[in-house]
Amino acid sequence: MAQILDGKRVRDEILEELKPRIAQLSRKPGLAVVLVGNDPASEVYVGSKVKTCAELGMVSEKLTPSADISTDELLAIVQELNARPEIDGILVQMPLPKHVDTQRVLDAISPEKDVDGFHPTNVGNLSIGRPSPRPCTPSGVMELLRRAGIPVAGKHAVVVGRSDIVGKPMAMLLLHAHATVTVCHSRTADLAAECQRADILVGAIGRPAMLTRAHMKPGAVMIDVGINRLDKREDVVRIFGEGSDKVAAFDKRGSVLVGDMHPYDAAELSSHWTPVPGGVGPLTIAMLMVNTVEAAERRQV
Ligand code: GUN
Repeated sequence: MAQILDGKRVRDEILEELKPRIAQLSRKPGLAVVLVGNDPASEVYVGSKVKTCAELGMVSEKLTPSADISTDELLAIVQELNARPEIDGILVQMPLPKHVDTQRVLDAISPEKDVDGFHPTNVGNLSIGRPSPRPCTPSGVMELLRRAGIPVAGKHAVVVGRSDIVGKPMAMLLLHAHATVTVCHSRTADLAAECQRADILVGAIGRPAMLTRAHMKPGAVMIDVGINRLDKREDVVRIFGEGSDKVAAFDKRGSVLVGDMHPYDAAELSSHWTPVPGGVGPLTIAMLMVNTVEAAERRQV
């Protein structure tokens, strides 16, 4: 029987471990979150970030410029946050509106306050294995594996997806942990064959239930980073079948969340797997808190 990797339990462990570190600081760590516009999913994520800060006794500040903000105006906000001593971490929620130059905004965040690990300096630090803030979702996956006692060294890890936020840093962290790493993407010639070789399969493509039993080696560890909301009944029926618990959940709530992996196949074939929701998701915020506390520790000594 496959074991569920419980992200909520690991999140609670990580947050509990932060409390004494926060208590030791000369002032509370401060996180500024910039949310441009009103994308509903982003609003939910940012709400959870702010709430978690409050639960830990950290200070958070939410800035919500409207969707028509210019790149220069957003740069001015970032520069002001860079200059404020009581702000230890700055997070600009992605994605930004199309007219905003995302790279210029990420470049403007002081690398010391870059709790997402998206600044080119920190991307470079990750690449050469120097300590620096690591992107939250992939570092959460590493914590999940480590705390479950799942060995990574010498294993074949296949990462499906090559985004700057998840796929690329995930591959780099697995490589530093001595896995043999394959990165797959939309142009990969035979995706199923590549995935079948994985001892550790990571789904980070943003396509609902795209990875099925055809992609899964029995006994592999399956890490599902996807969070896809299905709001058409026909899609839920096509993926899970009439009479399934997912269709029942859809009929009750009008939508369901589905990862990048088919959850029934992952549950049946894996040794360990992460459900959606409740697997990788909770770790992202936990690691953001870790990065913010670490930034505060570095800045307050
Ligand atoms: N959007 C989705 N995930 C993330 C994340 O980890 N950080 C930021 N800033 N935006 C995101």
